[in-house]
Amino acid sequence: MRSDNWFAGQTKDAFVHRAWLRRGIPDDSFDGRPHIAIANTGSDLSPCNSHFDEIAASVKQGIWEAGGVPHNMPSISLGEAQVRPTAMLWRNMAAMATEELLRANPIDGVVLLGGCDKTIPALLMAAASVNIPAIVVPGGPMLNGIFEGRQLGCGTDVFRLSEEVRAGKMSKDKFQRAESSMIRSRGHCNTMGTASTMGIMAEVLGMTIPGIAGTPAADSRLLQASQETGRLIVKMVHDDLKPSQIMVRASFINAIVALAATGGSTNAIVHLLAIAGRLGVPLKLEDFDKHGSNIPLLVNLLPAGKHLMEDLYRAGGLLAVLKEVADLLDSSAITVTGKPLTDYLSDAEIYDESVISRRKAPLQENAGIVVLRGNLAPNGAVIKPAAATKELLKHRGPALVFDSVEDFHNRIDDPNLDVDENTVLVLRGCGPKGYPGMPEVSNMALPPKLLEKGIRDMVRICDGRMSGTAYGTVVLHVAPEAAAGGPLGLIQTGDIIILDVEARKLSVEISDEEMAKRKPSEAMVKSFANPTRGWENLYIKHVMQADLGVDLDFLVGSSGSQVGRESH
Ligand code: FES
Repeated sequence: MRSDNWFAGQTKDAFVHRAWLRRGIPDDSFDGRPHIAIANTGSDLSPCNSHFDEIAASVKQGIWEAGGVPHNMPSISLGEAQVRPTAMLWRNMAAMATEELLRANPIDGVVLLGGCDKTIPALLMAAASVNIPAIVVPGGPMLNGIFEGRQLGCGTDVFRLSEEVRAGKMSKDKFQRAESSMIRSRGHCNTMGTASTMGIMAEVLGMTIPGIAGTPAADSRLLQASQETGRLIVKMVHDDLKPSQIMVRASFINAIVALAATGGSTNAIVHLLAIAGRLGVPLKLEDFDKHGSNIPLLVNLLPAGKHLMEDLYRAGGLLAVLKEVADLLDSSAITVTGKPLTDYLSDAEIYDESVISRRKAPLQENAGIVVLRGNLAPNGAVIKPAAATKELLKHRGPALVFDSVEDFHNRIDDPNLDVDENTVLVLRGCGPKGYPGMPEVSNMALPPKLLEKGIRDMVRICDGRMSGTAYGTVVLHVAPEAAAGGPLGLIQTGDIIILDVEARKLSVEISDEEMAKRKPSEAMVKSFANPTRGWENLYIKHVMQADLGVDLDFLVGSSGSQVGRESH
């Protein structure tokens, strides 16, 4: 056991390590039993994860039963709806802190408790870099929200309701009443947003007990699976089954297939690229298009459809979806059980075809991520056609450029704004370096005067991200971002933009000569963050672009689980 380096023998150092850890745990806890960390991102300030102590108790129970010794390890938690300027700024910090804690402590394996958007990606990045046996328990979605007899999906319906208020179709009073009906139970957002998506990604990557992803947080079967997870991590330590054996390229390709079939969040792109980078798996932005764009959409969940995660679970869950695309999954990719994910599909069934469609009658034929390139995005940009308006997927229109989020908010409601439904809204300065942290602002709200005309979607382009719960014809993750010298920072209002999703093209009708003469907008440059100390300073100097997963350049790869020097 790795932990023997702390506990074995009769030296003064072993005495210190054992004595301070005892606090009532049995004597034989130090006789070569696996010591398991429970990386617990439960926090009152991450309300989506606030129930994790109960999950941790079930995991602990399982670890004891299987002969291991559990240790609760509070880990950096990021509440997506609370953290400013954006939780993504802190994902790499959370990953780095967890990685270092795992390496520093007498740990043989780890159970990763994540839920709210950034927590599962950060934990997986950490576990990938340390490469000790690891398994995820996804904290699960909240129950369906209901307001005035209608289902409310958190996130997605906030955008819808606020547009209704802005268009004068809903009173502010009613808007406020909807607020308290939306979040009905413990758990993370109940749409196919980033948290739901990353729980699913963790399972398809092989890093959970098969069948657990999407189990509602309030469902007692989650605690049962948590206890089983506790037992399994002890076995994984004995078998020395590590993340690098589970998360191989085939697992990532399976994840891309599942991302498309479930209509998952575009945020999964940067997270999967970052996790792959930690493992040295050669995953490229183009893989999402190549392996995912032709996959049919089978799950009818907000934002692409109408149901919520609780409905997906009762309709058969993730395994029923995967069974429909089983022939597209690589059965060489194993899970934490040591068996391939495809071994768990035979019993899966669809119980409600209004929620999970059959492959022969999908909700959409080609639902995955499309990667766009052109003189506006030389290193790529992405769009999720499943959440877009079909008629806008091929579009030519004049740009209306905003230099920052603040510039956008200051001007978008102006009744004299020169804009119509053909205009392309462009927002820049929102990439990893520019904002910093690449916030979810790409799905810009539409101008009120167009909302009043009944317009509900326009082409929008941004170097930021988009909430997984949002919808619209939004081109995002433009790379390089404006703050890294990308052409997005050089275009001007009135320039003609061409979007052609079928041709994978995003361009601006400006000659190379003209582009070379252009200078970055002064207002945009002024809006860029200019930190001189702390995490932001480190982050801006080292963060990579969206096409590379937005990890820090010095965190790519693995540092391993070598044991540090003794200092007592
Ligand atoms: Fe936590 Fe949506 S705010 S998952």
